[in-house]
Amino acid sequence: MSEEAFDGDYLFDVEQFRVQASLSLETPVATGEVPVWTDNKARFIMLYLHYFVLLTKHGTYIDGFAGPQEECENDGWAAKLVLDSDPKWIKHFYLCDLDKAQFARLKDLCSRQPLYDSKNRKLNRKITLYHADFNAAIDEILGAGKISPKQATFCLLDQRTFQCHWKTVEKIARYKKTGNKIELFYFLAIGWLERSFAAQKNLEVLAMWWGRDDWNELKAMTREEVRDALVRRLKEELGYKSARAWPIFERQDGGATMYYMIHATDHPEGPKFMSRAYRKVVHPNEPIEQLRFELLGESKPPKSQVSPPPDSQRSA
Ligand SMILES: C[S@@+](CC[C@H](N)C(=O)[O-])C[C@H]1O[C@@H](n2cnc3c(N)ncnc32)[C@H](O)[C@@H]1O
Repeated sequence: MSEEAFDGDYLFDVEQFRVQASLSLETPVATGEVPVWTDNKARFIMLYLHYFVLLTKHGTYIDGFAGPQEECENDGWAAKLVLDSDPKWIKHFYLCDLDKAQFARLKDLCSRQPLYDSKNRKLNRKITLYHADFNAAIDEILGAGKISPKQATFCLLDQRTFQCHWKTVEKIARYKKTGNKIELFYFLAIGWLERSFAAQKNLEVLAMWWGRDDWNELKAMTREEVRDALVRRLKEELGYKSARAWPIFERQDGGATMYYMIHATDHPEGPKFMSRAYRKVVHPNEPIEQLRFELLGESKPPKSQVSPPPDSQRSA
């Protein structure tokens, strides 16, 4: 149903729901009429990666703030959903959390991972856990040199408010010297931003988060201006070909925008896959063959691709 054809009442503000095209350089993408809300934001991320690995057949997933949001296990935990997702073609996981109890939950999740897939083939996955400040752990993750330029790599930065330093974002974006940059899913907690600014007495925290001296100017901006400033920095300073802010609402029927999930990617298919993930988040997973056909134009995979090839053979 197109927006123009709809003459009833929306449950939420359509203007707010429409994904903004950053800097008017990018065409807006369709998001459908059902918003992604806080309870299914993890599924939104998982679904995007699920689509992407059908293309790459491999992947590396970094989750900097990986402990569960609800402090109990549920279907809203991104690290769990990504690990559980099939086919299990993401081979390398780097999961980090600073909090002791949250780290214990990560360890427990990791210990419960299957060693074999549904066809009894050994799963060749490596999960590395960090009980650390991600702003420090990132040096170890990237410094090990294990992520090759050809490896499709994704980094979830699901901070509560100001935990992820801009320097960390910069290091991730600048890591690959060739090929597509590491993709970012950067959470901007817009719903309580003003309150958080006011409550934050340690100004160093704000300076590290924003990474520039002009962070104080953000206080006078509207939420949309802050969103656009971040999008602009990801494109102009860090050189991402695409950066788009996807609204995450308070409730299933809309309400306030709680976060923007800012997706920064160099891959031409990235925004299309994200648009699909946004629209499909409330639906059950589509059959793989149907997805393959719709996303990649393949009705059947060639025999050689039934098992994923080694990371080095395909690049995102
Ligand atoms: C919003 S929650 C993450 C939610 C999670 N992505 C999910 O899907 O449920 C943020 C997490 O970051 C952790 N954290 C806070 N500061 C951190 C830091 N500097 N480095 C790493 N983890 C941190 C918290 O302990 C918390 O578990």
